[in-house]
Amino acid sequence: MERLIAAGLLLLLLRCQAAAGVGGVVGRRPPTLARHYHHTSSSSSRRQRAAAGDDAGVSVPAMVQYETRHYTQRLDHFNWAPASYAKFQQRYLVNDTFWRGRTAPILLYAGNEGDVELFANNTGFMWEAAPRFGAMLVFVEHRYYGRSMLFGGREAAFRDAGTKGYLTVTQALADYASFVLSLKANPLRHARGACTEMVLMTYGLSNDSILQPPWPFNLTDVVASCRNATGLPPRPFWLETEFGGYDIGNVLKRSASNILFFNGLRDPWSTGGVLKSISDSIIALVEPKGAHHVDLRFSSKGDPEWLTRVRAKETRIISRWLKQYCSDEAIST
Ligand SMILES: *[C@@H]1O[C@H](CO)[C@@H](O)[C@H](O)[C@H]1NC(C)=O
Ligand SMILES: *[C@@H]1O[C@H](CO)[C@@H](O)[C@H](O)[C@H]1NC(C)=O
Ligand SMILES: *[C@@H]1O[C@H](CO)[C@@H](O)[C@H](O)[C@H]1NC(C)=O
Ligand SMILES: *[C@@H]1O[C@H](CO)[C@@H](O)[C@H](O)[C@H]1NC(C)=O
Ligand SMILES: *[C@@H]1O[C@H](CO)[C@@H](O)[C@H](O)[C@H]1NC(C)=O
Repeated sequence: MERLIAAGLLLLLLRCQAAAGVGGVVGRRPPTLARHYHHTSSSSSRRQRAAAGDDAGVSVPAMVQYETRHYTQRLDHFNWAPASYAKFQQRYLVNDTFWRGRTAPILLYAGNEGDVELFANNTGFMWEAAPRFGAMLVFVEHRYYGRSMLFGGREAAFRDAGTKGYLTVTQALADYASFVLSLKANPLRHARGACTEMVLMTYGLSNDSILQPPWPFNLTDVVASCRNATGLPPRPFWLETEFGGYDIGNVLKRSASNILFFNGLRDPWSTGGVLKSISDSIIALVEPKGAHHVDLRFSSKGDPEWLTRVRAKETRIISRWLKQYCSDEAIST
């Protein structure tokens, strides 16, 4: 489970924050700052190796530099029992060097299942997009991964069903929602009035399961082995109940906008992906030769023409969303 291959759900949300209007979030605790700098080598050979897809992040491009901070997060977002208010420190990485402030975007990576540094090290698309959009970059770590441990540490967090029970998609998404509101409300570090904010979300998988799905698929067996592995009974239909995954096209058409789904058909997970555009702003990009997450990697000289084209197209689409949003909100950029 340590070595991860990030998967391909790319979700971009636009949010506006008017000059004074942080409405319901006034009084929230701003992200607490505990920083250190992260320096990387600037050798170009390192850069080339990383660009070629060095998953382990042993070498990364010199442009990957950020501050590490921690946000005080709540244990359980969904009930009022006193124990729910226990806190943990959620790690996030920030680079605001390119941020043009006030009306400029924030590109936010909602961490998947792994050390968030791994994703910061490998998500070149964001680093390359930041200067162009004048954007702030934020990478937030997923609870129970990397250093974002509950109950004081990894061992305690995974001790038993009672401590592991807070590892759910729903809790993780609530962490991100709470974090984003708090980020916007922080008047010290993050000037009010950010015009737009994008949430770029991915979910990953360990490489031992990616090429060897449980086949033939038997739900009873899968549920039993999940229970064996975690000591917790899974709820196999809950995600669909909560997020409406069945007939995803119709659900998204009625409830969402501004999402890019990139799928490379060499990625086995593409069979479960959104391969057809759903609306003007929920767009599927499909590449026969594409692989897992390849569009989000650092660009390099060796990139095939189609990959360069895909990234340019994604950048154009995002620019269009930003323009549209600022125009809708009458915000001058
Ligand atoms: C942000 O990244 C750029 C290079 O990509 C670097 O020059 C700058 O120092 C970084 N800023 C922070 C605050 O780490
Ligand atoms: C990210 O890159 C830095 C600099 O190369 C490296 O020290 C760190 O171990 C990497 N982190 C991960 C999780 O790959
Ligand atoms: C993932 O794949 C790599 C390369 O084949 C291998 O070295 C590594 O042990 C694998 N990790 C897991 C968790 O299976
Ligand atoms: C699935 O596995 C269970 C338990 O191993 C078995 O009883 C059942 O017959 C299997 N179902 C199918 C459709 O193979
Ligand atoms: C669950 O674990 C027990 C004991 O380790 C083992 O005998 C059983 O086969 C496992 N069941 C599944 C479905 O993995």
